[in-house]
Amino acid sequence: MSTTSLRTVPFNRTHVCDNELGYLAEAVRHGSTCGDGPFTRRATALLKELTGAGDALLTTSCTHALEMSAILLDLRPGDEVIMPSFTFCSTANAYALRGAVPVFADCRPDTLNIDERLIEAAITERTRAAVVVHYGGIACEMETIGEICERYGLALIEDNAHGLGGFYRGRPLGSYGRMAAQSFHATKNVQCGEGGALLLNDPETAVRAEIIREKGTDRSRFFRGQIAKYQWIDIGSSYLPSDVLAAMLTAQLESFDRIQARRHAVWQAYHEGLADWAAANGVLRPTVPDGCAHPAHLYYLLMPDLHHRQRFIAHLAAAGVQAVFHYQPLHSAPAGLRYGRTAPGGCAVTENVADRLVRLPLSAGLDGDEVTRVIDAALTYEVR
Ligand SMILES: Cc1ncc(COP(=O)(O)O)c(C=O)c1O
Repeated sequence: MSTTSLRTVPFNRTHVCDNELGYLAEAVRHGSTCGDGPFTRRATALLKELTGAGDALLTTSCTHALEMSAILLDLRPGDEVIMPSFTFCSTANAYALRGAVPVFADCRPDTLNIDERLIEAAITERTRAAVVVHYGGIACEMETIGEICERYGLALIEDNAHGLGGFYRGRPLGSYGRMAAQSFHATKNVQCGEGGALLLNDPETAVRAEIIREKGTDRSRFFRGQIAKYQWIDIGSSYLPSDVLAAMLTAQLESFDRIQARRHAVWQAYHEGLADWAAANGVLRPTVPDGCAHPAHLYYLLMPDLHHRQRFIAHLAAAGVQAVFHYQPLHSAPAGLRYGRTAPGGCAVTENVADRLVRLPLSAGLDGDEVTRVIDAALTYEVR
C-alpha cells in the first residue's frame, strides 16, 4: 500500500481509557455539573497520591493555576520573576498580569531546561520568585535551584505542565516548589480536554488558594458546613472546573499506569530506533540526566539547523506523519519585549534550539504500526 493512502499518524490522538463515558454520564445523572462535586474530590485524591502534594486544587487550566500562583505571591508592579525563555506564554503571562516583570533566562543545551548557572546573575533586589519548567517532564536541576531560592528568599514555583509522573532524585515533580501548576489539556499524558491543578506544598498558601479559586470568597468552607454564610474576602476569580470535566479526569487518573506504560513504550521505540540514524546525521535525541525519571511526555529531535527542521517536517508530512515544532523564544516575542526583560548573558541557546526542535507523534493512542511508520519515515531522511 502506498503511504499516501494510509491515515496520517497524528501528532496527538486523544486517548480515552475505560471509564470516561460512564463517569461523564454519572456526573450528569447525579446533577453535579458545577465545580467541587464528587468527581472533583476523587480526582484530587488521586492527584495528591501521584504527586505527593500536601494539597491540590483542580483548576480550569494550567494557565489559571499559574495565575493563582501569581496572586498568591502578592506580586507588586515592578517585582521580577525569573523563568526560562523556552516555555509557553502562559508561564510569563500569569506574572505579567499582576504587573510583575518576567526575566527570561537561557536554557541548557542538553535538557532545554532553565540553565541553573544563570539564575543568580538574574537576581536583583526586585526578584520575588523563580519559575521552573521541566521540559518534556525531564527535571530541572532542582537541588541547585532550590538552594539558590532559599539563599535569596525567592518563592520557587514549578510549571509542571509536562511533568506529571516525572521524578528528580526519587521525589515527584510538583513536590519541590511552594506551588506547582499541572495541565490536563488534551495534549497532556492525562487529560480532560481543558483542565489543570494547583499543587500546594505549604499549608498556609492552601487556605488562601481555596478562596482565590472561588471568586475571592470563602464559599468552599460554607459548602463544607464550616461557616454559616460566605463573603467576599480577597481578590480571586472562577478557577474551578465543572465536575463533568473532573469525571473525565478521574477516569484518566485511574488509568495512569496503563497510559504511562504505553507512552514509555512509544518513547523508547523512538529513542532506540533512531539512535544510529541520529548519530550518522548529526541529529540530537533527548538527554535524561542521572537522577531524573521522565514521564514520556514528549519525544523531540534537534535537527542540525532550521533548514533541516523544516525539510524534515515536510518529509514526514509527505510520508503521512504529523510532526511539529514547539516553543518560540519568549524574550524576543512582541509581548516578551513589552512586559519582560532578558537576563544577563542573553538567550542564544534558546534561539538556537527553538529553530531546530521537532516533536514526533506521541500519545497512548498510537499503535505499534504507527510508531513503526514514524521511525521508518525518519530513517529515510538524510542530512546533506
Ligand atoms: C510549560 C507550559 N505551561 C503552561 C501551559 C498551559 O497549559 P494549559 O493549556 O493547561 O493552560 C503549557 C501548555 O502546553 C505549557 O507547555
